[in-house]
Amino acid sequence: ARHLSVLGIETSCDDTGIALLNQNGEVLGNVLNSQQKFHTRYGGIIPPRAQDLHRAKIAEVFENCIAQAQMTPEQLDAIGVTTRPGLPLSLLVGLRFAKHIARKYKKPLVPVHHMEAHALQARMEQNIPYPFLCLLISGGHCQLVFVRSPSKFSLLGETLDDAPGEAFDKIARRLRLFLLPKYEHWNGGRAVEDAAQHARNPSRFEFPLPLARDRNCNFSFAGIKNNSFRNIRAVERQEGTPPDGIIHQYHDFCAGLLAAVSRHLMNRTQRALEYTIPWFGNAPRSLVVSGGVANNDYIFNDLSHLATHYDCQAYRPSKKYCSDNGVMIAWNAIEKIKENSNCMRWDYDSLSICG
Ligand code: KG4
Ligand code: ZN
Repeated sequence: ARHLSVLGIETSCDDTGIALLNQNGEVLGNVLNSQQKFHTRYGGIIPPRAQDLHRAKIAEVFENCIAQAQMTPEQLDAIGVTTRPGLPLSLLVGLRFAKHIARKYKKPLVPVHHMEAHALQARMEQNIPYPFLCLLISGGHCQLVFVRSPSKFSLLGETLDDAPGEAFDKIARRLRLFLLPKYEHWNGGRAVEDAAQHARNPSRFEFPLPLARDRNCNFSFAGIKNNSFRNIRAVERQEGTPPDGIIHQYHDFCAGLLAAVSRHLMNRTQRALEYTIPWFGNAPRSLVVSGGVANNDYIFNDLSHLATHYDCQAYRPSKKYCSDNGVMIAWNAIEKIKENSNCMRWDYDSLSICG
């Protein structure tokens, strides 16, 4: 039988990503247009602006992807598209475009949940059996889920306020790290990770361990964030704002922040491991870390060590697939189709950005 060819369309936030995969997870085409440099200039994502940028780019991203794969749209077997969760204005652009292509070439659509796509992405490149525990850490989310199949997810805990990537981004902006040419076009998490590597005294600043007494798997990053703002203000008051706008101890500060975020993630993941070990039975135990913050080597190493204590192997997608992209959407559609081909939908009109 011929291999399935599946397109994936991702527009939930500020990246326009389209990719084309075959059913074995070989990436035939992959194009990503990031809006990062427009949004850092305005200090964050402005939804109508993100929508305009998706609209301006999506047709070109699609054409480049098809060309890269040296295929024609007629050869597609299905089109996966992110329908939730995300910025509604951004999601709409992807879904409308997917419907347009589906109608034009008479192809079925597969609605994809953005977080489920992050969760399954590591399976594309590595042999990770179901079930697995998954820690999803990104700019919009922080969740622990137990994944039994492409369609069976149990939520164990999630953030009560900020996501870790969001905390990194806001604190990096408050530190004015983006004034440094090196970090000008980086996201906050990557800038903090880099700055932390040059620390001399990582324990110079103190950070709280959130929810230490809560006997559940929830997260909270607002305390770490507010504590960070207080610390930065105190240093600025003491020393005055330096001419370049950045406090001198920012390396030490970033190292402390990174360690605090990692400690909280480990603390909650340890609870989830203890809770779910019996659910694995005799099956191999796996922890999958995914989402943009999974790019962070320090955090992933900490989590890998923790997992080892539970006879559990830690995995993450390769770095280019940790952050938002079209590949993970196509891969999720493939996993769904393999499990149950009824997930392919011809009733385009009934698909919305909620379902
Ligand atoms: O998954 P993603 O691309 O988009 C969302 O769905 O949110 O994640 C983006 C987030 C940003 O907040 C960014 O600061 C964070 O991932 N991030 C990192 C690193 N690279 C990206 N956080 C920590 N360390 C990194 N190396
Ligand atoms: Zn994401």
